[in-house]
Order: sequence, then C-alpha cells, then structure tokens
Amino acid sequence: MARQVFITRMIPEEGIFILQQAGFAIKIHQENRPMTRSELEEAVEDSDAVITMVYDRVDACLLDGAPRLKIVANLAVGTDNIDIPACAARGITVTNTPGVLTEATADLTMALILAAARRIAEGDRFIRRGLFNSWDPLLLLGSGLQGKVLGIIGMGRIGRAVARRAQAFGLKIKYYKRYPLSSESSAECGAEYMPLEEVIREADFLSLHLPYTPEVRHLIDRRRLNMMKPTAYLINTARGGHIDEKSLVEHLRAKKIAGAALDVYEHEPSLAPGLIDLENVTLLPHLGSATRETRAKMAEMAAENVRAVLDGREPLNPAG
Ligand code: GLV
Repeated sequence: MARQVFITRMIPEEGIFILQQAGFAIKIHQENRPMTRSELEEAVEDSDAVITMVYDRVDACLLDGAPRLKIVANLAVGTDNIDIPACAARGITVTNTPGVLTEATADLTMALILAAARRIAEGDRFIRRGLFNSWDPLLLLGSGLQGKVLGIIGMGRIGRAVARRAQAFGLKIKYYKRYPLSSESSAECGAEYMPLEEVIREADFLSLHLPYTPEVRHLIDRRRLNMMKPTAYLINTARGGHIDEKSLVEHLRAKKIAGAALDVYEHEPSLAPGLIDLENVTLLPHLGSATRETRAKMAEMAAENVRAVLDGREPLNPAG
C-alpha cells in the first residue's frame, strides 16, 4: 500500500514535486481555509505523514486517532501548535523549517520597524482618503532610526539577523536572551546584553523574536507596557500570545506608547477588539516568511523531512 501523506493546505509545488518523486500517495486539503477539527481528525486517520500549518492544533487527542502517523512536518519554524511530548510518546517525529525563513522574517521585521517609525501605512491611508493637498512641513512626522535603541527580546537566528540589518540603520542594539550570546557573537551583531526589563525600559523600538511557550504568554503585559518609553514602538513578528493585546490596545489608544507594528495575533485571524480602529498600529496578516523563495524552501524542507522519515531515515530538522 502506498504511503499516505496529507497536506492540510496547498503549499508551493516544489514540496509536492519531492513527495511525488518519492512515490507517496498525496492528499491535499483543497479549500483555501484552515481545516476544521473534524476534517483534520478524518484526514490523519489513515495518514503516514501530515504536513501541518501554524494554526493546525496537533494534540494527544488528534494523535490517538492517527495510528499510522510517523511524522508531523510543520510548515513553520515555530512548533507551538504541536504537542511535541505527546508525539514523542507515540514515536511520532515532529519537524520544522528552521534557517530558510530567517532572512525573510528579519526583512519583514525591518519593514515593520520602518513602517512604525515613518508612518508608512498611515501615509498610504491618507492618500487613499484623498487628503493629500500639498507638501506640509508638519505632515505625518515620524521618528528617525539613527542613534535610537532597538531592544530585541530573543536573540536566536532571527533576532541576530534583525540586529545585523539594524546596525546599518544606525540603531544601537540591546538584547535579552535566556542564555546570553558569547561575547564574540554579541560583538558580531553589535548587540549588548541586558536584563529583560532594562531592555524594555531602554528601547525606542522593542522587537520580539523568542519562541512561544505557555511560560512566555503575555510576556509583554500591562506592567511591562507601562515600563516602555512613551515614545517607543512595539514590533512583533514572533507569536501573538507574547503580548497582552487588550492592554496593548489601551496603551495605544491612550498614547502611552507611540505605536506598534504587528504581524501576529494571539487569536489569529481575530484581532483584539479596538485594534483595527487605531491609527498608530500597522497590521499585517502573518507574513514573516511570505516570500516566494522562502515558502518554496519551506515546502521543500517539510517534504524532505517526510521523505526521510517514511524511508526510515533520520529527519533533517527534528523539533523539540
Ligand atoms: C511562522 O510563524 C513560523 O513559525 O515559521
């Protein structure tokens, strides 16, 4: 019987091609929306491998209905949607797509820093509303980057790639990481280690780059939002759950911080009430890795992991 690979949403063809070449039977959820829980349960029932998206919840209950499953290949670097210990307990491998999305995500982070600082989305809305009458010395004044402090929380691959870019914009980089970088690595990305709350207090731009686990839910809560400078901007391309969005909305509304630029939300695709009405926030629909090149590489990587595990080899990118 051909081994069965289920893909929970259409992915770039580069990945499909690898699976076809390997001779697997491939099923793809064809509708352009997340699968419902019952659709997912049915899909994994007779699958040997599943390629999942960031929103697919893979837990013990789902796995109990998947007796043939050998691998869950997540099309993401984050694996917070997957219960890795539950997979391990059943001998199921979990893989992710590290490395290939680092530069794309760092590019998008820089784009959001610039969008917040220079009010890019506000300017775009201003023109579309027909309000652009003339050059104006006081129109939509933003904040320069030169000499400002970029605070980075989480200094893994993506945090370091952001730091490398930020240096070219004249930003001074202070970071917090559970295990600080070696002094050589800190020097290489021009970054100075500081305790978490000092980074929050000193940052003119505070950017989050740590993996999501329940321990860091609402890491940026009301108390820590209060520590931020009133002129500071909060940038998030990691996971929405890192921020208490309700408190963020209150802070943005009361102008207790200057602004925010967000690519991720705690309850995607829902936004916290009131967020969408604010001018001082730039909102993107989870696009960190969304370049053609990167998504093609992610699809290839997920497919290669499936091929390795179903052929009885070690996975290339085991997670956890
Ligand atoms: C996307 O959010 C990822 O984790 O790759």
